Amino acid sequence: METMKRTVTCGELRAGRAGQTVVLNGWVHRKRDHGGITFINLRDRYGVTQVVVDTKTTVAAHVTAPDLDAVAAELRNEYCIAVEGVVRLRPEEMANPSMPTGAVETLATKIVILNRSDMLPFQIDDEINAGEDLRLTYRYLDMRSKSMQRRIKLRSDVTFAAREFMINQGFYEIETPTFIKPTPEGARDYLVPSRLYAGKFYALPQSPQLYKQLLMAGGFDKYFQIARCYRDEDSRGDRQPEFTQIDIEMSFVSRDDVLSITERLMGHVFMKTLDIALPERFKRLTWKEAQEKYGSDKPDLRFGMELRDFAPYAEAGGFQAFKDALAGGGGVKALVAPGGADYSRKRIEELEAHAKIYKAKGMAWMKVAGGAGHEAKLEGGVAKFFTTNAGDIIAGLEANAGDLILIVADAKRKIANTALGAVRAKLGKDLRLVDPRAFEFVWIVDFPLFEFNEEENHWEAAHHLFSYPQEQYHDILEGDPGAVLGDLYDLVLNGYELASGSIRVHDPELQKRIFSIAGIAAEEAERKFGFLTNAFKYGAPPHGGIAPGLDRLVMLMAGETSIKEVIAFPKNSFAVSPMDECPCEVEQKQLDELHMVVRTP
Ligand code: AMO
Repeated sequence: METMKRTVTCGELRAGRAGQTVVLNGWVHRKRDHGGITFINLRDRYGVTQVVVDTKTTVAAHVTAPDLDAVAAELRNEYCIAVEGVVRLRPEEMANPSMPTGAVETLATKIVILNRSDMLPFQIDDEINAGEDLRLTYRYLDMRSKSMQRRIKLRSDVTFAAREFMINQGFYEIETPTFIKPTPEGARDYLVPSRLYAGKFYALPQSPQLYKQLLMAGGFDKYFQIARCYRDEDSRGDRQPEFTQIDIEMSFVSRDDVLSITERLMGHVFMKTLDIALPERFKRLTWKEAQEKYGSDKPDLRFGMELRDFAPYAEAGGFQAFKDALAGGGGVKALVAPGGADYSRKRIEELEAHAKIYKAKGMAWMKVAGGAGHEAKLEGGVAKFFTTNAGDIIAGLEANAGDLILIVADAKRKIANTALGAVRAKLGKDLRLVDPRAFEFVWIVDFPLFEFNEEENHWEAAHHLFSYPQEQYHDILEGDPGAVLGDLYDLVLNGYELASGSIRVHDPELQKRIFSIAGIAAEEAERKFGFLTNAFKYGAPPHGGIAPGLDRLVMLMAGETSIKEVIAFPKNSFAVSPMDECPCEVEQKQLDELHMVVRTP
């Protein structure tokens, strides 16, 4: 097939090029016929430019006008074509200031069809208007849209900026294997059966965790990797079965060194790719503060609405359910919904239903009515139990006339916090309190090292097994695991957990104690993690690290709520790729080679 190699892209023609002969390659974005004159918007990833076929004014020795007309007549949307032509200024009234190339057009002298297009499953617009599975089935068309092009470019820019920063800071980028022994990050593993060793499996890494620690033992004191991770876990908007981390590990560091490098990494990435200056240091909240103020370990700080302790008012008031919760060692927490006094009963019930998803038994409410300051009074809901201290409540909660006070009490303080925190998050969205262009980072530090698994009745690592218990708790590890705080940290952005990390254990004895508290017998620990604990016996340095999720980072930077929007070929919500239809069955021969028998239910 005859081709004409492009001399310019569709995004670059400006008035200064008028008079030049150029060759453009791209896709027919739109075509308009104006009685003998055809206008083509030609598109590539650099932009859109107007091509005109007007054989009455085209003077081209090597082309006969009827040919050009015939080719132009055949063109349909998404035909891939090459155009040779002369750039000319558009008459002033025809210029299109909303198009960067809008001052000019290219008068075609020759058009070659490089490839035709079938009828499209959806129109290629700036945003594709089609269901998710259709978009993913034709991802290669979906990604021709301006919005996907912009997001994939942003992802490339962010990845490059991250690499640039880390390398400039003296980190080595080192690849770790993707066929490994299972690494525990709390999800199920994807397994790869071994052909050579019947009944044996490799696991795909849930993260490079153990290997990056081994790199520290190997003396590479500053490591990073744009690392692929694989986790078989329930799908959510911010999760994919395979995803990417900016994985980081450093030796001879304290927690603050890791936080600082991450802050500077984010600062560089945001400045370089979005031209946004982030604060040099991010806010910090302890895990406990985050629970108490926001009922979440990933609070969205783009709006305030902190949870308040209602216990002092509950004690003085006459509502028995609140008193019972306190008597049971629990908590009573309140949230002020600004302007919520005019919510209908139905709306309040919806909010209560939301609290119940998070195990609240109910949600009490009262409205602040009347004038400002001393004139304000409580009405409706549980107000009648608080007539004597209404003034204190309004002042203490800093509520105003027209607000709605929501209260959750529970014998488990955590439930009161979490349920009301979920209501806070919902109200933040519903009331549009969040500025979609704002970026509010916050560190959550001092996490508990262990969590009690109620179902299985044992302690387990809250993050992973290799995190360092803060020094002051080493004596009580076994005695009171629930009280032990670890050197763990999460970076939260706009209500999403963006990164997690910790200072690690590097002492084999301490590591054994942690395995044992988490119910992992010595023999099992040796079998699963012996290769790591052995390395600790040979002068492994103190070390720590972190792993920001690249997909989540780009998703938030792009203002999206699903990481699928920033991944070229993601799986759908059922872990399926509708385009190539994987997972799929394999041939019997392959199964035989892998010593596998498939049992269908
Ligand atoms: P963690 O398991 O918290 O920590 O993961 C770190 C970050 O990776 C991202 N992430 C995901 N992104 C998309 N889809 C998923 N399924 C998914 N799971 C996690 C999140 C998360 O904050 N090895 C430790 C890190 C360390 O301790 O250094 C780890 O993997 O952004």
